[in-house]
Amino acid sequence: MATIGTDLDYALQLLLQDHLVAIPTETVYGLAGNALSEEAVMKIFEVKNRPFFDPLIIHTSSLEKISSLVEPIPEELIALSRKYMPGPLTLLLKKTSEVPDLITAGSDKVAIRIPDHPMTLELLSKLDFPLAAPSANPFGYISPTEPRHVEAQLGDKISYILDGGPCEVGVESTIIEWIDDQIRVLRKGGVPVEDLGANVWIEEHSTSNPSAPGMLKSHYAPRVPLIIDPDLDQMEDYNTERAGALCFNKLNDLIPLENQYLLSKTGNLREAAKNLFSHMRALDELDIDVIIAESVPEEGLGRAINDKLKRAAACE
Ligand code: TXA
Ligand code: MG
Repeated sequence: MATIGTDLDYALQLLLQDHLVAIPTETVYGLAGNALSEEAVMKIFEVKNRPFFDPLIIHTSSLEKISSLVEPIPEELIALSRKYMPGPLTLLLKKTSEVPDLITAGSDKVAIRIPDHPMTLELLSKLDFPLAAPSANPFGYISPTEPRHVEAQLGDKISYILDGGPCEVGVESTIIEWIDDQIRVLRKGGVPVEDLGANVWIEEHSTSNPSAPGMLKSHYAPRVPLIIDPDLDQMEDYNTERAGALCFNKLNDLIPLENQYLLSKTGNLREAAKNLFSHMRALDELDIDVIIAESVPEEGLGRAINDKLKRAAACE
């Protein structure tokens, strides 16, 4: 069993000794280790059961601090970094030879992010190395937004979970890069695509050779099958008594009330994003045959929510 606590010094000691610590961020909880230590990075892959082709994001408290790890940042991304870092934005940048290949899965680019959480920012500012931190869930499963989610799944593999409360944003960071004179979005996340300006194109998923495996067709998946916006014909295939519902702002008339979770009573997309993964998890723990999910308006954070729902629904 992992300990859940708020002891920053203890977390610091563990990280200095190449151990892993689960850390809070505004998006989801991360499984953190010294990004420059091969031993710590290997542990991350082992604990998550993550394939080595899936590269890791490096977390830092400031871009200056990791300047030796990346080539100069394109001007177009500097403006966005000023606006959204700290925040749910990850920049994919040309790396230098100081970044271990294990972190980038052999790619010449490295993902960098400054998480907007006071506890983790303080931890990062006390360390003289950056932290590699994927979401603290087994590969392919729903990302954790509360310490108990981490404990439930990785509690027997790590010793400490830093408790920073529930994550405010609730979906992962938006990943972007500057390529061919445009901003390419590799993963829709906490910064809405609309907020990145006009010169943007969105990379849709690819199952073969994905440039970001968060882009894998099937990801963030619960164990119980999930279907989105089924019509009445499709619903006939299921016993509604044994179904659960992940609703946006209104309950589903066909499904038992106790099996229903509302993302946001008032239809607020921020609140919906914040609740998405924890409600998905709660439904996954029920004794049901199927989760009926309702898509949300395709705007702002709704795009990231719909994207996660689609990947949770996809079977490979
Ligand atoms: O919000 C977040 O970004 C969270 C918190 C913990 O910071 N982290 C997170 O990490 O979502 P992870 O490992 O679960 O997802 C990172 C995504 C993966 O899909 C990975 O493939 C992509 O970032 N990525 C990382 N480095 C990359 C690289 N060099 N090239 C392409 N994609 C990269
Ligand atoms: Mg993840």
